[in-house]
Parts: sequence; C-alpha cells; structure tokens
Amino acid sequence: MEEFDFEAYKQMVKDHQDNDEPTSWCDSIYKDARGDYTKVFWADLESNPYLLQYLKKNITKDKKAIVIGCGVGDDAKSLSDAGYKVTAFDISPSAIDLCKKRYPHSKIDFLVADLFSYPKDWRENYDLVYECNTIQILAGKYRILAREKISSLLNKGGKAVISCRSRLLGKQENDIPKPLDKKEMNEFIHKDKLKELIFTDYYDNQEPAIWHFFAVYQK
Ligand SMILES: C[S@@+](CC[C@H](N)C(=O)[O-])C[C@H]1O[C@@H](n2cnc3c(N)ncnc32)[C@H](O)[C@@H]1O
Repeated sequence: MEEFDFEAYKQMVKDHQDNDEPTSWCDSIYKDARGDYTKVFWADLESNPYLLQYLKKNITKDKKAIVIGCGVGDDAKSLSDAGYKVTAFDISPSAIDLCKKRYPHSKIDFLVADLFSYPKDWRENYDLVYECNTIQILAGKYRILAREKISSLLNKGGKAVISCRSRLLGKQENDIPKPLDKKEMNEFIHKDKLKELIFTDYYDNQEPAIWHFFAVYQK
C-alpha cells in the first residue's frame, strides 16, 4: 500500500493558506480515497470516547444537532443513535458522497455546505453543535470566524461540544494542523458569551499520543 506523504500534505495546505484559500484543498483528501471511506487518512472511523460518554450521560429526544465538517460521518451517526435529529455538513462534496453511501438508510441529513456561509435558517437553530478537528486545519482569521459561526448556530440553552488537538500558549504556532490553545478555547466564553460546562484535556491512544481538549459550552 502506498504510504501517505505527510510532508507533501502539509506543504499543500500551507500553499493554500498562503494564497488565502482556507478550504479549497479539503475535497482532494476525500477524492483521493476513491470511494472508500476507510482510506481517508484523518478519519478515526469511530467517535471520540468523550463525545460518547457525554451522550450516554445526556440522554435526549427530539433535539436538533448539527455536525461541523462531518468528514466520513461517525460523529453524526453517534448523535443520531443517541436520539438527536442530525444535520451533518461538510464543504467537501466527496466527503458527503462517502457519508451517503456509507449510511444509505440513516435519518441524518448529510449535505454540502460552508460553515462560513451557512444557510440563514440555521442561525440559532440547534440544541447541540458538534465540532471535531475543523478549526485546527484553518489558519489566522478563519479560526476566529469558524468559532463565531459555530457559536451562532446555537439556540438559547444550546450546547457547543468541541473536540480538538491542543497546544500550549505560544507553542506549535506553525504546525499543520495547528492545535488550539486554551486562550482560543476561552474565546467561546469571553467573546461568544457561552458558559463553560465541561473542560477536559487528555492524550489519545496514537503512537506517539496526541494531546487533546474536549469541552462543552452553553449559550
Ligand atoms: C480534519 S477534518 C475532520 C473531519 C471530522 N470532523 C473528523 O473528526 O473526522 C476537517 C473537516 O472540516 C471540513 N471543513 C473545513 N472547512 C469547512 C467549512 N468552512 N465548512 C464546512 N466544512 C469544512 C473538511 O472538509 C474536513 O472534512
């Protein structure tokens, strides 16, 4: 099997970021999988255990959830299995194709959309917004815009559930993906006026293990 070339990947992302094209490269990752969702290099093919734990403890019915940058759909499926009415979107048409083929009979509304210009009627419409690893592939002002857009999807009392790689303040500034630091996470509180309900950090089981944040904020 051909090895994934991380250095070429990082250079490709950097070139797009330098040209102020934050997301136009995303579809290529899914296209390269040639219809096989198991070949998408960043897909864990399972939900974050902290999300699953949260869903177990917060049983729901008839609530609306939306998944940002849903990739190949595992988290959307977990939210749907937990009882949410789920909209899951991605800017990549190839990702959404993979989701629809993977889950042909699910009730999840998988669709192509851009977080930065989502349909007007999504605003303040969701009880739960799930973001996993989208902000970290963005650079500069697009990270801030993504956070603002995520918060803007919440209805009153709605919860933003955020899962991402993490870094210490001032470190890994040029990494691709660029993990979030605690200051960026705290902007959900200080800028978007959400209340922190859960904040935790942990190391995943990759080799070497990668540091992550998992947080829940409420509007
Ligand atoms: C690192 S992947 C994570 C995918 C998935 N959430 C997961 O955890 O496996 C980031 C995803 O965000 C999507 N994405 C990036 N910018 C986006 C935007 N502006 N609107 C919607 N999706 C976006 C990408 O296409 C990609 O699927």
